[in-house]
Amino acid sequence: MSERTFVMLKPDAVRRGLAGRILQRLEDAGLRMVAKQRLDVNEAQSGALYAEHEGKLFYDSLLTYVHSGPVIATVWEGPGAVALVRKLIGATNPAEAAPGTIRGDFGLAIDENVVHGSDSVQSAEREIPIFFPGLD
Ligand SMILES: Nc1ncnc2c1ncn2[C@@H]1O[C@H](COP(=O)(O)OP(=O)(O)OP(=O)(O)O)[C@@H](O)[C@H]1O
Ligand SMILES: [Mg+2]
Repeated sequence: MSERTFVMLKPDAVRRGLAGRILQRLEDAGLRMVAKQRLDVNEAQSGALYAEHEGKLFYDSLLTYVHSGPVIATVWEGPGAVALVRKLIGATNPAEAAPGTIRGDFGLAIDENVVHGSDSVQSAEREIPIFFPGLD
């Protein structure tokens, strides 16, 4: 069944000029981009996106990082889009991410891991309106 997922190219990806190559990988996998916006993430958005991590040791540095420069927020559609994107992104820690995955090929460290992808359909439905309120 066709579904949607939220993908955010994090500030390190934008700074390093990786956006085109990363978006190309998602297109090559057969996904269709339905929304794209370059923006500076505000505190309401980062707090909502990472609410599940509030209170963890890395929470403050995670927010500082997400606010460190512009991101590219995107929404993608396709059969099994959520799981497909997670597979293309690879493990959270780039040191453990398989070669051929986005984090395996481009990621430098767990706290600069290039890209975010929704971890479930439910997460996608929660995350998309944080960045694209009113998207059809
Ligand atoms: N142990 C850790 N130390 C430092 N940063 C961490 C750690 N665990 C997670 N993070 C950071 O918090 C983000 C969110 O963690 P989460 O467990 O949701 O991983 P993820 O789902 O693979 O990543 P994301 O939600 O960004 O797609 C990670 O992408 C990473 O940048
Ligand atoms: Mg996550």
